Amino acid sequence: MDPITNPFAPGAGTPPPELAGRDALLETVRVTIERIRLGRPSKSVLMVGLRGVGKTVLLDRMRDEAEAVGIHTLRVEAPENRSLPAILAPQLRQTLLRLSRNAKAKELAQRALRGLAGFAKALKMKYQDIEVGFDFDPEPGLADNGDLEHDLQALLEAAGAAAREAETAIAIFVDELQYVEEEQLASLITALHRTAQRQHPVVLIGAGLPQLRGRMGRAKSYAERLFDFPEIGALSPDAAQQALVVPAREQSVEFTDDALDRIQTETQGYPYFVQEWGKHAWDVADTSPIELADVIAASTSAVAALDESFFRVRFDRLTPMEKRYLRAMAELGAGPHRSGDIADVLDRPVTSLGPTRSSLINKGMIWSPNHGDTAFTVPLFDQFMHRIMPDQSWRS
Ligand SMILES: Nc1ncnc2c1ncn2[C@@H]1O[C@H](COP(=O)(O)OP(=O)(O)OP(=O)(O)O)[C@@H](O)[C@H]1O
Ligand SMILES: [Mg+2]
Repeated sequence: MDPITNPFAPGAGTPPPELAGRDALLETVRVTIERIRLGRPSKSVLMVGLRGVGKTVLLDRMRDEAEAVGIHTLRVEAPENRSLPAILAPQLRQTLLRLSRNAKAKELAQRALRGLAGFAKALKMKYQDIEVGFDFDPEPGLADNGDLEHDLQALLEAAGAAAREAETAIAIFVDELQYVEEEQLASLITALHRTAQRQHPVVLIGAGLPQLRGRMGRAKSYAERLFDFPEIGALSPDAAQQALVVPAREQSVEFTDDALDRIQTETQGYPYFVQEWGKHAWDVADTSPIELADVIAASTSAVAALDESFFRVRFDRLTPMEKRYLRAMAELGAGPHRSGDIADVLDRPVTSLGPTRSSLINKGMIWSPNHGDTAFTVPLFDQFMHRIMPDQSWRS
């Protein structure tokens, strides 16, 4: 089929032609945001899931839907090694400037902008990466203690007060939340707790790897009560089928049932893989319907494409010891695995591998579903490790 009209869209954060199987979650978040706008209690939502399950595209879709009904949104991604106040401040400024154009909210929005100026100045010592424009002079005593926990709380309260006046809400969308330092997470939790208590319309919609849940709980023990943690996983067989069939049908292209079954087996319903297989099967097939033989032929190029991008970008960030650790995990299969078993494969004492395991968790490569267990955060990474390190030289 013509590659120019190929609808499938594998890629980090690339919107799929059909966002399948997520309607219930989209509706939950819509209700949450509308409740927050009315000042009714509602938990913030943190979506957790493995790499490539569609967290980023969900956040973007939720944000678009919120903007469309007049919610003021902020959208940030927490990169490794940047502080939360630094990534939030410029976005919050934009939001407050927009709010200040609303006649009812103007004064309170300007007050919040004064708060933001004080916030940035006071925290600059500790978080040197804060860069934000100042529209007003700080108001002494407003969010300017130099203590993130206190100041973020004061700032979000001021912002929430402005949003309430405008009968809207502020929805903060944060991707890759697992990379935020625990201390900064704690401040964010406290601030949201406070705005919730005061019924200010501020809500967090976040996404992150599965370790996020534990990190939140360690940052503040009451986080579990303040947030919902919906798990985003592989698509159900029906949803995966829909993700393939709907975009193809729009161009009068069909899949045979065998072809769909085979894609399901190969991808296990993981959205990134579904897009990759859809794309390659489309390119391989000469005519509609796309058949089993097309999918079989496409598997080779789909795997090669994943190895070059989705898997490779993660692998390239690892130290030699981290690679060996992951290869030892792969030797045991898909996982999760006991730390002791992984150490046995490497013929090392468990304790000597603690630092490697920790740094792999920090890099977002593995996580711990239960105490002492270790699992990959990237679906099918075990098979990739076998392909990329095929011989046994990693053992020594
Ligand atoms: N519900 C869905 N139906 C079909 N395709 C989807 C769905 N969700 C995501 N995808 C596709 O899966 C791929 C990965 O999506 P996305 O980048 O949002 O995942 P992610 O969970 O944010 O991954 P990462 O943890 O690596 O950031 C994209 O190509 C996207 O188009
Ligand atoms: Mg993402």
